[in-house]
Amino acid sequence: MTPCLRGRCYSRGVKIIRTIEQMRAAAREVRRAGKRLGFVPTMGALHAGHMALVRAARSQADAVCVSIFVNPTQFGPKEDLSKYPRPFEKDCELLAAEKVDFLFYPDVAEMYPAGAITWVEVAGMSERLDGKSRPGHFRGVTTIVSKLFHAVEPDVAFFGQKDAAQAAIIRRMARDLDLDTRIVICPTVREPDGLALSSRNIFLSPQERKRAVVLSRALNRIQFHADKGERRAAELLRIGAGVMAEEPEIKLDYFEIVNNDTLEPVEDVSAGALVAVAAFVGTTRLIDNLVLFGGRQASGPETKA
Ligand code: PAJ
Repeated sequence: MTPCLRGRCYSRGVKIIRTIEQMRAAAREVRRAGKRLGFVPTMGALHAGHMALVRAARSQADAVCVSIFVNPTQFGPKEDLSKYPRPFEKDCELLAAEKVDFLFYPDVAEMYPAGAITWVEVAGMSERLDGKSRPGHFRGVTTIVSKLFHAVEPDVAFFGQKDAAQAAIIRRMARDLDLDTRIVICPTVREPDGLALSSRNIFLSPQERKRAVVLSRALNRIQFHADKGERRAAELLRIGAGVMAEEPEIKLDYFEIVNNDTLEPVEDVSAGALVAVAAFVGTTRLIDNLVLFGGRQASGPETKA
């Protein structure tokens, strides 16, 4: 990477911006030129799931900004913040190949000034699903996404259905705070055997990698029975749990069927529902989900403000 010049530098043709002030200036230049700015927030270690969001942004906006920021406030004290993968040069290559215009790459001191005590929290929803087993996680996510939105001021921002609870919470935040950013949720990108792509998959041993397919297998079985007419959430969950039990080494964190807008449990899936699963494969926590009966399925990319 070439040395930074007043907070701005380039890597393989991608303009790297390290300060909020420079980011705002660049975004305003885009808008002054009458262009629409698309934004893809990430924590780096980019894979085909992230790149699908980048391509969606490219197709729906005139200029594309990606952020890489491993956000400390969304990691619990015993979680993997320090070992979270940070292959920065490889990420830059991927972004350059997609002709991304800006990479916003701030450091922790830039995003969290010493003594910051203000949070953005989507009350109640933040304690559901992953929020239950990862206290404070979604408060960290919504706070950093708000701060990134303030820096980038995007016209449209792209998130993955892979993180279904996060997507629902961000949609709700955008609605409740009247954000002037359209939120687009893109479908989950998977390996050929069904495993959802995740930056954490690299932590799986070859044996764990094979076992991990059980998450998508359980969801597929639920889809199959729902297609055959089963509508009772409890019965669908029993079927899913039965599949998960085929891999006794895997420790289930949660398996729930909820409303895809509120994340509250539902008893009947006829009106559409989100089936969400989280499990520890060894020490690696994986999540996956399925949307039943058009309960706001990401098929597209599709807009959900
Ligand atoms: P990260 O895990 O890097 O994911 C960035 C975006 O990529 C999220 O919107 C996520 O849902 C999406 N994504 C991840 N795997 C995907 C897959 N297999 N298919 C489709 N999309 C996928 O999510 C975060 O970072 C952070 O919480 C963030 C929103 C950046 C806030 O820090």
